[in-house]
Amino acid sequence: MSQVGEPTVFERIGGEAGTRALVDRFYDLMDLEAAYGTLRALHPSTLDGSRDKLFWFLCGWLGGPQHYTDRFGHPMLRARHLPFAIGIRERELWMACMQQAMRESEIDEALAEQLAKAFYGTADWMRNRGG
Ligand code: HEM
Repeated sequence: MSQVGEPTVFERIGGEAGTRALVDRFYDLMDLEAAYGTLRALHPSTLDGSRDKLFWFLCGWLGGPQHYTDRFGHPMLRARHLPFAIGIRERELWMACMQQAMRESEIDEALAEQLAKAFYGTADWMRNRGG
């Protein structure tokens, strides 16, 4: 239970600036690192729209402003991922890319661990095929 005066995860990550920095690092790595090539190939040729959407979504998901729902309504994340074949391999690549982005954005270790668990739950829920 969160208590009055306790900082939200959004505040602990550094608000909009910290969230944007994490999202930018995540997509920079997806673009740069050959290891994430399979993940990159699922995305559009330019990542600008993906960056904005993940940034808007995470702001709300982390307890900050609801930029995503203000623009698009309910995220319906699982439905929005159905056009992409997501199995264990894609989930693991997404997690590895996000874990690397968290390390390189110098997010506090305890916070990164807490976030990794939450990201994992969502990433696993996005699976829509075996393997
Ligand atoms: C499990 C592995 C995942 C894969 C392979 C994946 C892949 C993708 C792809 C290809 C897109 C479309 C990008 C675009 O239209 O520009 C997308 C959109 C999105 N993803 Fe993921 N994703 C994964 C997990 C996640 C997780 C864990 C989150 C949130 C914590 C997330 C949040 C989003 C959001 C907010 C969008 C934009 C949805 C929209 O409005 O169209 N994704 N994802």
